[in-house]
Amino acid sequence: MAVDLLLGLQWGDEGKGKIVDVLTKNYDIIARFQGGPNAGHTLEFDGIKHVLRTIPSGIFHNKSVNVIGNGVVIDPVVFVKELEGLKPFNIDYKSKLLISRKAHLILPTHRLLDAASEAAKGKAKIGSTLKGIGPTYMDKTGRNGIRVGDIEMDGWKEKYRALADKHESLIYFYKVDIQYDLDEMEKEFFEAIEILKSLKFIDSEEYLRDAIKKGKSILAEGAQGSLLDIDFGTYPYVTSSNTTAAGACTGLGIAPTMIKEVYGIFKAYTTRVGSGPFPTELLDDVGAKMAKIGNEFGAVTGRPRRCGWLDLVALKYTCAINGVTQLMMMKSDVLSGFDSLKICTAYNYKGDIIKHLPYTIEEEYVTPIYTEMKGWKQDLTKMSDTAQFPQELNDYIHFLEKELEIAIKIISVGPDRTQTILR
Ligand code: IMP
Repeated sequence: MAVDLLLGLQWGDEGKGKIVDVLTKNYDIIARFQGGPNAGHTLEFDGIKHVLRTIPSGIFHNKSVNVIGNGVVIDPVVFVKELEGLKPFNIDYKSKLLISRKAHLILPTHRLLDAASEAAKGKAKIGSTLKGIGPTYMDKTGRNGIRVGDIEMDGWKEKYRALADKHESLIYFYKVDIQYDLDEMEKEFFEAIEILKSLKFIDSEEYLRDAIKKGKSILAEGAQGSLLDIDFGTYPYVTSSNTTAAGACTGLGIAPTMIKEVYGIFKAYTTRVGSGPFPTELLDDVGAKMAKIGNEFGAVTGRPRRCGWLDLVALKYTCAINGVTQLMMMKSDVLSGFDSLKICTAYNYKGDIIKHLPYTIEEEYVTPIYTEMKGWKQDLTKMSDTAQFPQELNDYIHFLEKELEIAIKIISVGPDRTQTILR
């Protein structure tokens, strides 16, 4: 068995980029399987902070090959900017970065449709990152999409025109006021397509099957988080792809029997960006303090993230959906300095005490029930060994392990690669 998965267990932004970057030295291939430039995987090393959008987080390591799978949606314009950002690092991306022919392309009009659709929703808006993700996946399942492989074929520009024209009619029907210069956007798009064409395209299912046969090790890197999964997340406030473990099979073409470890990554507290229910959200000074210490601003949109206590009801659910085998707790250092810490262990759901995630977790139906634990004052950021941990942190970790029945193998105590403690 040759494939391990790394997934976010909350609403995204758990710190997957950092962990993939730390883990990559153990793998031959790093593969992204869903999402698109709505993701922003932040990596910090040697005093440099870098945000990746579509490119897998293994790109900074010499050894690994990086695959963008068929389940990913690619915006050529954003992608080319990402490549430009890699220039100072002298990365040979023509040999280290491979793109599935079956990945779908985000067209300029997909971005416009995203904006029109959100504007038309008014108060009910999802809080989309407005990167065209939803409309692109809609065209994928609607069987109208344009795939990377199409740009190698004759006549794809006619297909493009027909789809873009249809999108313009749809934008008109939304009856919202959005300003755009499509000629300018298309110029940028077709220039980016030419650069995209200079990269190596593959049939990722073939490539990975062959790699597995040859004994190569593969890490499948998820984007967003399980609570944003189109099927199992807090619908409709979700993204448009399967962010859970099954998405790695459909988004890369690997068989479920090939999967070994499922690394589940979560923050020591909870954050959410965009709209939607969030039972443990803190709208007080405590939440503001978490946001400040944790620098909780979206890597893609810069929007402030909503913060709250750790929700074990939701975490248990996502561990189960994904079949998590090992846990990794991020941003533990952010919890230093709180007198007490709360952990949600059950919900009052329409008057009943429940421990599973119900159909809806909207505020009008759900009230969180907390267990309170003593906080710690020590700064964790300089610690390099679990022996240095304050007792209260150990208590926090042991409590979670007991509730979740899964070992927490990595504790992150800061954004840098080096601030990662193995247990
Ligand atoms: P979309 O994926 O841009 O359509 O956005 C749908 C929802 O998912 C919104 O609430 C976004 O804020 C959220 N979302 C999408 N990508 C990310 C991410 O990488 N981190 C956190 N939230 C995300």
